[in-house]
Order: sequence, then C-alpha cells, then structure tokens
Amino acid sequence: MPIPAILQQGLQLPVIAAPMFLISAPHLVIETCKQGIIGTLPSLNARPASQFEDWLYEIEGTLAGLQAAKFGVMLVMHKTNKRLEEDLDIVIRHKVPLVITAVGLRPEVIAEIHAYGGVVFHDAIHMKHAMKAIEAGVDGIIPICAGGGGNSGALNPFTFVSQLRANFDGTIILGGALGHGREVRAAQVLGADFAYMGTRFIATQEANAAPGFKQMILDSESTDVVYTNKVTGMGASFLRKSLVKAGLDFSDTAMTPVVSVEQEEEMIAWRDIWSAGQGVGLISDVPTVAELGQRLKDEYASARHAWCK
Ligand SMILES: Cc1cc2nc3c(=O)[nH]c(=O)nc-3n(C[C@H](O)[C@H](O)[C@H](O)COP(=O)(O)O)c2cc1C
Repeated sequence: MPIPAILQQGLQLPVIAAPMFLISAPHLVIETCKQGIIGTLPSLNARPASQFEDWLYEIEGTLAGLQAAKFGVMLVMHKTNKRLEEDLDIVIRHKVPLVITAVGLRPEVIAEIHAYGGVVFHDAIHMKHAMKAIEAGVDGIIPICAGGGGNSGALNPFTFVSQLRANFDGTIILGGALGHGREVRAAQVLGADFAYMGTRFIATQEANAAPGFKQMILDSESTDVVYTNKVTGMGASFLRKSLVKAGLDFSDTAMTPVVSVEQEEEMIAWRDIWSAGQGVGLISDVPTVAELGQRLKDEYASARHAWCK
C-alpha cells in the first residue's frame, strides 16, 4: 500500500487536509504542512488566477527550508472550468507535488503532471468512477464515502475501500467523516494509505470560515447533516441549521432529479449554505492547526499501540 516517495518527504502522519471551496487558503495549508500533514487547496479559491500563483509563491517561500510535509492543489476537470488551462500551467511551472482532480477525467492532464514528477489523486464516489480513473493512469483514488462533507458519495467505506484494494495497487486516500487519530489508524487497517479530512479542519483557527460556520459545526450533531442535490444539482452534505437559515425546507431529504446550476449560483450557494460532514458530531472545539496536528498524532500513536497488543 504505497505512499508515493515524493509525498513521504516531511510526512509525520498519513493525513491529507482536504481541499475545500472558500475555506482553504495559504495560511491553512502552510500550518498544516508544518505539522507534517499534507495541506491542499482548490486553485479556484484564488481569484483571479494571478492570485493563485502568488499563493503558490507564498506557500513555497514559507515552507522552504522547514521540516514540512508536501502540499497539493485541487483542479476541477469539468469543461465549465474556464481556468483549467491557466491554472494547470501554473501548477506545472511550480511543479506542485500533489494534484487532486475531480469532476471529470483528463488523461492528458495526468500525463503533464507526471512529466514533471507530480502525483495525481482522483476523487471517486463509486467503483465505476474509480476504475476509469485507474485506467487513465492516476496514482491514487480518493473514495469519498458516506457522511463526508462537500460533494461526497453515499457508499459505505468498508465495502468501497475493500473493493478498491482488491483491484488497485496504488494509493488509496479514504475520505468521509474522519477526524480522529484512531480513525486514521482504522483507515489503514481497512486498506487505505491516507485519511482525508475536510470538516475537521474547518473548525480550526486558520480555516477561512465565518465564526458562525465554525460555531454551527460545534453545535451540530451528525444527524444535523443533510445529504441532498437540491442546493447545487450534485449530492452534497449541508448543515441543516444553515439550510433552515436560508429559508429552505429540507425536511424531505429525498434526492430530486439533477438540475444544472450556473457557476455563479453555485458559488453563492456554498458561501451562504454551509457544508460539513457527519464528523461534526465529534467536533467540540476550534483549535489551532498546530494543536489539532499534535492531537491527531497522539491519538494515532495510542491507537497503534492499543491495537498492537
Ligand atoms: C465546505 C466544504 C467545501 C468543499 N469544497 C471542495 C472543493 O472545492 N473541491 C473538492 O475536491 N472537495 C471539496 N470538498 C470535499 C473535501 O475535499 C473532502 O472530500 C471532504 O471534506 C471529506 O469529508 P469530511 O468533510 O467529512 O472530512 C469540500 C468539503 C467541504 C466540507
């Protein structure tokens, strides 16, 4: 179960802080990498594209010479992403170590990232997605399982990771409601190489989320997370209280036929309606990333110790 050599450098814990729209910015990435955890951000969080390159300079400049984990960038592959070419050029110029791809598959992009020595991990919510990406040559699959924040899937992690492991020798990065060091160990036991954590990192001092969003995470139970495609057209998890605040009635959580939503509308939806995964039930504080990183490492160490007995 390999972790690519380039990502082993500076890694203290097999965790990737997942890219999150509007939430992940350089400060969060830098502090995460300093903890020996891989930090990531979506390129589209930087607006305009010129800011994206400034962000990469900031991350690289601050981490240069430090004992830190590598960082990654998430690129949306869908044809509606007008910035893909420009952002990809910047990624290639900076030789970004990890590129996460989602919403579409582009073999030529994978080849360009491999050409400079970068690694590509691809989001998948079921086996068909995953197998297509494996055939296209990605280095890792991120099974986004039930209960995850953002555009998550609905599969149970036990069956999804086990099926993947049986068909794939590459890197598996398990995502969906993970937020404790014990769960990182559990992900490894299941057959994954990394744990992928989004929601846990929203409730940190460095996350670019409104104080009300962080407080709502603290105040929410796992059952307050509603999985629906009514907000953006794609299945995603949202905090019930923010849906209610936006005046939307989500007592009926049944999935409706997919409706397409304009990019601008989607941005407003994510800004005003807050997304988080079922891991909220375990979150009771807003630590600094340094505090969270140390805690995860301690929890992971004691879980490894306990299970070795
Ligand atoms: C507020 C929020 C925004 C997100 N935005 C993105 C995004 O822009 N791109 C992406 O690939 N995933 C995005 N995700 C999904 C995460 O990368 C990751 O798959 C998910 O957070 C893992 O589940 P967890 O939140 O339960 O840990 C987002 C998740 C959240 C909670």
